[in-house]
Amino acid sequence: MEEWGKELNRLKEAGLYRKLRVLEDAQAPQTIVDGQEIIMLASNNYLGLSINSQVKDQVIEIVEDYGTSSGGSRLTTGNYDLHQELEEKLAKFKKYEAAIVFNTGYMTNLGVLTTVVGKEDLIISDELNHASIIDACRLSKAEVAIYQHTNLDDLKAKLEVGQNYNRRLIVTDGVFSMDGDLAPLAAIVELAREYNALVMVDDAHGTGVLGDSGAGSSQHFGLQDEIDIKVGTLSKALAAEGGFVAGSQELVDLLRNKARSFIYSTALAPGTIAASLASLQYLQDNPQILTTLWRNIKLLKSGLQDLGYQLLPSNSAIIPIMIGDEEETMKLSRGLLEEGILAPGIRPPTVPEGTSRIRVTVMANHQVQDLEKAVKAFSKVGKELDLI
Ligand SMILES: Cc1ncc(COP(=O)(O)O)c(C=O)c1O
Repeated sequence: MEEWGKELNRLKEAGLYRKLRVLEDAQAPQTIVDGQEIIMLASNNYLGLSINSQVKDQVIEIVEDYGTSSGGSRLTTGNYDLHQELEEKLAKFKKYEAAIVFNTGYMTNLGVLTTVVGKEDLIISDELNHASIIDACRLSKAEVAIYQHTNLDDLKAKLEVGQNYNRRLIVTDGVFSMDGDLAPLAAIVELAREYNALVMVDDAHGTGVLGDSGAGSSQHFGLQDEIDIKVGTLSKALAAEGGFVAGSQELVDLLRNKARSFIYSTALAPGTIAASLASLQYLQDNPQILTTLWRNIKLLKSGLQDLGYQLLPSNSAIIPIMIGDEEETMKLSRGLLEEGILAPGIRPPTVPEGTSRIRVTVMANHQVQDLEKAVKAFSKVGKELDLI
């Protein structure tokens, strides 16, 4: 116990102690956090579908019919017709032969990497990949080579050195979660073909955001047939919970048989699956929601840029505002909160030293007035702190 106290004190002294915020209303553009009304600039509910009335109605209907829990793992008694339907629809959405749903995006990455590679293999992973990929690499027993963020020369060098491994798997986020930039997928696929490697893309932040129908980063780049393993999450734009892999029927069959995070966990509840199904349907019936999302992204970006803030070159619903210094970043975040804007500061160890930033995210259901109010607050607090 004493040891834990020491560790907690160490975290507090280093300014790394984390506390939970409490939401007391829906995940909406205007909501209540810790008793305060705020404009939400920190949600991954990119399409705003978690409060869409069509989606909610369908979830309520399914819960009325199926109840609240799944009662077993997928391979025992928890596999509903709803799970099957969602997997078929996700495969079609992503234009793959098959898909398999896991309980979270995190568990998806663990399941995939511990199944498709092993001791004789090499994973080549972008240095800014999500923590779930990093943990999955550790669990996989494969050798891991990290290449500098989106650096194709470094990726090529790692592929060159890795030629003697049984299998080489390049793993990258499609959209990087703290920087909002995109992996250079065309060049990555080209290198993969040259070096006989497989490509896995985690499109947690691209699904429902990028591409003409929201199918993600590979659709954005016109590469839908070229990615061997496509990972996505249902917990962000698709307004539910869970993750999935789209790929060949063989890949999906293998995962169903061997991925421990799929096998040894109770299946997602019917209401959660219903939320994904309804969100996916809504996106397919209303693709113009993507135009609204992108209008909002451009509006907020240009407002912040005009104020003189330095934005990282993101191309997604994630907009990182580079501040650099940890203290100043947190002061700006606190000042914004006082103005009713939730815009979290991100600092080490989540991002490298000296690159602390405010990371805001945009939703399709933000009203123009919400974004204008946010820009005004950034102007006021930024000037008070001498940042712009
Ligand atoms: C790139 C990436 N992969 C995976 C995950 C994990 O997904 P989930 O939250 O569904 O577990 C996240 C975010 O949380 C992410 O940003």
